[in-house]
Amino acid sequence: MKKLENKMKTIIDKNKYGPWAIVTGASSGIGKEFARQLASAGLNLVLVARRGALLEELSQNLSREFKIQCKVIALDLSKDGFVSDIDTAVKGLDIGLLVSMQGAGKAGAFLKISHAELREVLSINLISHLELVHYFAPTLVNRGRGGIVMVGAMGASLGVPYIANIAATKAYVESFGEALHIELKEHNVNVFTLLPGPTNTDLIVKEFGMEIDSMPMKPMSVDQCVAEGLKALQANQSSHIPGRLNRVMRKFMHTSPVRKLMTKMQRKSAIRLHRI
Ligand SMILES: NC(=O)c1ccc[n+]([C@@H]2O[C@H](COP(=O)([O-])OP(=O)(O)OC[C@H]3O[C@@H](n4cnc5c(N)ncnc54)[C@H](OP(=O)(O)O)[C@@H]3O)[C@@H](O)[C@H]2O)c1
Repeated sequence: MKKLENKMKTIIDKNKYGPWAIVTGASSGIGKEFARQLASAGLNLVLVARRGALLEELSQNLSREFKIQCKVIALDLSKDGFVSDIDTAVKGLDIGLLVSMQGAGKAGAFLKISHAELREVLSINLISHLELVHYFAPTLVNRGRGGIVMVGAMGASLGVPYIANIAATKAYVESFGEALHIELKEHNVNVFTLLPGPTNTDLIVKEFGMEIDSMPMKPMSVDQCVAEGLKALQANQSSHIPGRLNRVMRKFMHTSPVRKLMTKMQRKSAIRLHRI
């Protein structure tokens, strides 16, 4: 048991990525777990999302448990100009790591989704990541060390029916991250994109309408997803798919049986949500 705990312990270079990290999308799921694991590694945290009460609770728990400092910013990252609120809130903090984890969008047939909803998904899944990276990258480059973590998705780059718009935003993030990884490497800033497969969070249950018990593969826990992500960041990788089975799936994603399976899964979700 002790051996397993040590293996899972988060090791992060505090000199490069600390003393402060900012985690956006920190109120639930994968972002919340990033906050927990970074706090356990001793980094101070700025926590961002819309649900301020959840962030306050997380902030109190993490400060108490790991003896770190936390700051909360309740903010809608889909709104134009949100960066000026971030700018005001982070003044004077030496931030070495941006973890940009926010995401949104419901499964559904393209023809059933309103124009407004399609654009809203672009604002949160694509533009907000771009804005945050555009704001933080120059500071990280100036200090000569740091990191940027973004979130794509395991199979998104090939397109996924019934989440077509959402998957396309993830393909953007993956491509953007891979390119910036090379551009910012010479400045000792590691740009890393996490590419999760199905992971057990509110998103897949509430927004994607998935029934966990009847899924063909069990979704991964957030702890494993994030622990693998931080290990890959620490190893200066450009991207990582958590879970061996997910990595195998990605290799075969272009093949007809895997595409049929993915399509069937997402179509079922769209039917459950009455969006088909
Ligand atoms: N779970 C999976 O299977 C899976 C697979 C591949 C990729 N991903 C990606 O992983 C990321 C995290 O997802 P998750 O599964 O952890 O989902 P989650 O539990 O629903 O978390 C989503 C986070 O994004 C924040 N967010 C959403 N809209 C926002 C807005 N307008 N302004 C500010 N924050 C906003 C939410 O906070 P508030 O609601 O408090 O604002 C929440 O903290 C997403 O980008 C998702 O697409 C997830």
